[in-house]
Amino acid sequence: MTTNPLRQPQDRRLPRIAGPCSMVVFGVTGDLSRKKVMPAIYDLANRGLLPPGFSLVGFARRDWEDQDFAAIIHDSVREHARTEFREEVWQQLSEGFRFVPGDFSDDVAFDHLRRTIEELDESRGTGGNHAFYLSIPPRFFGDVVRQLKEHGLADNTGGSWRRVVVEKPFGHDLESAQELNAVIDEVFPSGSVFRIDHYLGKETVQNILALRFANTMFEPVWNANYVDHVQITMAEDIGIGSRAGYYDGIGAARDVIQNHLMQLMALVAMEEPASFTADALRIEKLKVLSSVVVPQRVDLASARGQYTAGWSGGVEVPGYLEEEGIDPDSATETFAALKLEVQNRRWAGVPFYLRTGKRLGRRVTEVAIVFERAPHLPFADHSTEELTQNALVFRIQPDEGMTVRFGSKVPGTAMEIRDVTMDFAYGGTFTERSPEAYERLILDVLLGDPPLFPRHEEVELSWKILDPVLERWARKGKPEPYSPGSWGPESAMAMLERDGRAWRRP
Ligand code: BG6
Repeated sequence: MTTNPLRQPQDRRLPRIAGPCSMVVFGVTGDLSRKKVMPAIYDLANRGLLPPGFSLVGFARRDWEDQDFAAIIHDSVREHARTEFREEVWQQLSEGFRFVPGDFSDDVAFDHLRRTIEELDESRGTGGNHAFYLSIPPRFFGDVVRQLKEHGLADNTGGSWRRVVVEKPFGHDLESAQELNAVIDEVFPSGSVFRIDHYLGKETVQNILALRFANTMFEPVWNANYVDHVQITMAEDIGIGSRAGYYDGIGAARDVIQNHLMQLMALVAMEEPASFTADALRIEKLKVLSSVVVPQRVDLASARGQYTAGWSGGVEVPGYLEEEGIDPDSATETFAALKLEVQNRRWAGVPFYLRTGKRLGRRVTEVAIVFERAPHLPFADHSTEELTQNALVFRIQPDEGMTVRFGSKVPGTAMEIRDVTMDFAYGGTFTERSPEAYERLILDVLLGDPPLFPRHEEVELSWKILDPVLERWARKGKPEPYSPGSWGPESAMAMLERDGRAWRRP
């Protein structure tokens, strides 16, 4: 084996710890903040990855004092944190909690915010380094970033940094995404903007690139000569819960396909990046996303559905139209499936089928690379009746790992060949438990490490792919009903049957 003499040895045991800083969260009372962001901050503190003076500032339209804010975080941490609760960690962390009441048009509140972070720089040594996390509806992004600018909060001064973190949805189509990006660009340079697609923070998603580019045995068959098609599924068994306000009018394609599934597809289909820097990754993702199209006849290459009332996991559940806060006439889809083509040499003729939905059979996310059949089988026909196609499946969640399916001889005197599987499971292989995606991503924001954050060009290309489908659906009226616990509407099955294929039953 040859080693590169220029490569400096690094101590892998040294954790990446954020330097002095604070994070200001807008929309701190929302679901995402309570269930994901605050618990992730506690988990990072518990793992010793935050600086001792780390501070968390909440900004919201509530009449709260710092201690009321701390009580809310306490509840969210106790309920949702991944790691055990340790009083000493909590005590140290909670000394840095501050709350600023106000709304986004309130100049007095933004002055108060500026004084608050100045006070943190003094009392907790946050060093002028502050991340502003926008966990708010995108229609307010402009108001908030402009206020940050006007109140001197967005300026990087004297070697310190200011960053903005943006949660999806990044618009509802290409045009609105471009407008949003323009608003943010006015205030923050692109290197200071961190767009969250939490799928990129998942270990199993990062493993797609590790598997492809750290090994020799997969890449030679990773192309149209060997791959028959690719299926990407993100299925949930839950309904929309209390998220009517966010979800209605958005729907499954905008909520999940435009971001999470297109990013997964880009990782599966892209060429090897020159390095793992943000720029090198972006170049390859942009190249592949620029080659993606929906086939001409959108109706044959897409399907959408809306769940009806019924039974899910032994419980009677309402239909989408009966959910609290949903317009009983809503045409929002809760299931979406799409067939995409990647028009380049590597993938010509290989369909990528993407699907996502709520209230499906079970919660599972997977990427399946399904290979062509062997060109010739030197066996009697009946020997291979139970042999299907080879497949490599990334099990993104919940049972994290990878499965390879291939044919093997069944023990016995006859030559009978049947599918078998070989599994790799994170749980059984590694002793470390995977961190939550938000832990990794928040740490990366504080470290200023951008590779896991999509750039605006990627976001815009994804909308460009999806827009013709959304336009067509808007003209067609209502989505097709499907029962809870099923795998979506009939038209989704028909979409693959027309191609002589079938969706996997994960
Ligand atoms: C979010 C979507 O981005 O991802 C939700 O807005 C969805 O609708 C969620 O439920 C699923 O995330 P995960 O990590 O549980 O697969």
